[in-house]
Amino acid sequence: MDYLQINGNNSLSGTVKISGAKNAALPLLASTILSKNEITIENVPNVKDINTLLKLLSNLGSTYNFENNRLRIDSSTIFNTMANYEIVKTMRASILTLGPLLSTYGHCEVSLPGGCAIGQRPIDLHLKALELMGADIEIKQGYVVAKAKNGLKGANIVFDKITVTGSENIIMAAALAKGKSRIVNVAKEPEVVQLCEILQDAGVEIEGVGSDELIIEGTDRQKLDMKDFKVIPDRIEAGTYLCAGAITNSQITISDVVPDHLEAVLMKLEEMGFGLDVKGDSITIKPAKKIRSSDIITSEYPGFPTDMQAQFMALMTQAEGVSIVEERLFENRFMHVSELQRMGASIMLRGNSATIQGKIKLYGADVMATDLRASSALILAGLVAEGVTKVHRIYHLDRGYESLEKKFQALGADIVRLKE
Ligand code: EPZ
Repeated sequence: MDYLQINGNNSLSGTVKISGAKNAALPLLASTILSKNEITIENVPNVKDINTLLKLLSNLGSTYNFENNRLRIDSSTIFNTMANYEIVKTMRASILTLGPLLSTYGHCEVSLPGGCAIGQRPIDLHLKALELMGADIEIKQGYVVAKAKNGLKGANIVFDKITVTGSENIIMAAALAKGKSRIVNVAKEPEVVQLCEILQDAGVEIEGVGSDELIIEGTDRQKLDMKDFKVIPDRIEAGTYLCAGAITNSQITISDVVPDHLEAVLMKLEEMGFGLDVKGDSITIKPAKKIRSSDIITSEYPGFPTDMQAQFMALMTQAEGVSIVEERLFENRFMHVSELQRMGASIMLRGNSATIQGKIKLYGADVMATDLRASSALILAGLVAEGVTKVHRIYHLDRGYESLEKKFQALGADIVRLKE
């Protein structure tokens, strides 16, 4: 297994180009199941989760060519509607094939994704909504066995909780359902918005895009004529690199981003004393005279993103004073705390809130990645720690960060990938 070795205490400089968003590309790849033609998708990040979903789609019968972040894919050749456990167990977002497969083919079997490090992460809301659309859903030997022999029908759906992939699954299901669907309490993440826009371009009538209520007129199983498109930039990768500049109190620039997708993160960085220059699709962060402590409560978009919580916790160790982080979306998203403590951080946990004492000097140590975003927090801590930090189990990172060490090296970080 690989690990990353970081020699801390270097300031950073330069510009890093942000890749396409993994969490936008995943539902968009699944949506090709609804398409009657081959399409080209640009700016697809070459990360593990994308390659896992492509493996699953090819297992179902899709054909594709993926190089230099350009994906040509034809899912009209699908002949198998069983998403098997061997692939799904490695990437829970495989559940995004459920809605499109069921709506297009009237039957499918998708392995239950199982939980993960950050929480149980059930899919009850996905299944309840599909049943409202007329699906017959059974759980059999760890698989969701879904049937809708005459296709799905439009329904009135109110999500009990805001769910990103739940919203995406139902939007894709509604696109090919018979009649109108009204979806209330739908997620508003930029990834959900782009999925709606791509479906609109393919001829699906959708009202309310970007709001928490969508009206979708289904095509009654008429496959879509999808157009080529480009995946939006990864707002979480962008926020992670801004935090790298912040924690080392350096001036760096990130390019190919959509600043509007990062509003909550930019506000928080300004509150902590950093300067931010936003010019078109680039953002430059400038050092703070003194890094001020701040509090964070994670919430659904456009609130502060849970996927940036771990990175900010690392940054808060370098702020003057006490910061408090409240994690409201997942029940166990503090796995990075014990690893940060090994580096000298002073963090106290009480239920779903963490109190971070700053400014504390961090020291390099052997630490273990536990989930995708926690791992990036450990790299950020390693950048500012004195001495050498080794981040183990970085397969978590490779799931969602493209060319990670190369991008950090280009910013002047002393970081190398080594074999255990
Ligand atoms: C998406 O996960 C993202 N993944 C996650 O990013 C992100 O952390 C999360 O949204 C929240 O923003 C992708 O987009 C592929 P949810 P998702 O359904 O859709 C509960 C990363 O780092 N819930 O919005 O699985 C759930 O337990 C990943 O890239 C139910 O109770 O998250 C959680 O507490 C990590 N029942 C809350 O809702 C359901 O049926 C939000 O989950 C569905 C969800």
